[in-house]
Amino acid sequence: MALRSARPAGSGKVARDAVHHPLFARFYARMSVNAETRMGMGGVRDRLLSGLSGRVIEIGAGNGLNFAHYPSAVSEVVAIEPERLLRKLAVESALRAGVPVDVVPGAAEALPVKSEAFDAVVLSLVLCSVRDVPRALGEIRRVLRPGGVVRFFEHGRGGGPAMHVTQRALDRTVWPLVSGGCHLSREPVAALRAAGFELGPYRRVMMPERGPVLPSSYCVLGTAWRPAEERPV
Ligand SMILES: C[S@@+](CC[C@H](N)C(=O)[O-])C[C@H]1O[C@@H](n2cnc3c(N)ncnc32)[C@H](O)[C@@H]1O
Repeated sequence: MALRSARPAGSGKVARDAVHHPLFARFYARMSVNAETRMGMGGVRDRLLSGLSGRVIEIGAGNGLNFAHYPSAVSEVVAIEPERLLRKLAVESALRAGVPVDVVPGAAEALPVKSEAFDAVVLSLVLCSVRDVPRALGEIRRVLRPGGVVRFFEHGRGGGPAMHVTQRALDRTVWPLVSGGCHLSREPVAALRAAGFELGPYRRVMMPERGPVLPSSYCVLGTAWRPAEERPV
């Protein structure tokens, strides 16, 4: 269903990447693997993906750490990743996955796939980084079939007033620059609702679950749906 298939970085002619954060990509590739065990991210990924089936599109798949956690009822994953190094690592992860995964260049704001082609969309730690959240969620709604599910694990605004001020100050200064375009004070649940999704169960999760509370610790893990009966957004 994807318009383009994955190619390892450096092979053939590839259009300019929609996202280019080579230093962050290197850092994330290393840090995220440690977080699987040391911060309990592996368990979160299991909960995020449990019970999924059919055709799934994952947005901003990074180095592909979700791939090993997809249940066998998933028939195919199309994994969109705009950053070249992370995409190359995702292609390697895809080769080890228990379900078929097609890694595809692209950005959430213009998904290179047909409308209503997927049973589920997976968002993990990506809405913080996309350039245009409403546009990305509009695209996600387009590619999901009516009644299809969104599984999300996202971080955002949290804590008390002092933490909110800190998150906003970091967002306006250094944070997006040093962390690949990430923002700390976005509100993923409100954004999903505003984009016309029905919110299912979701719960707040601190990451890391124990230990220091960081401006990036306030996470939410949950489910939303594209309504089976469409209403104008
Ligand atoms: C913090 S990483 C999370 C990676 C992965 N989802 C995970 O759970 O480990 C954020 C990811 O979002 C990707 N990203 C940034 N901007 C994007 C956009 N506009 N569309 C799609 N993905 C984007 C980055 O390249 C990166 O892979």
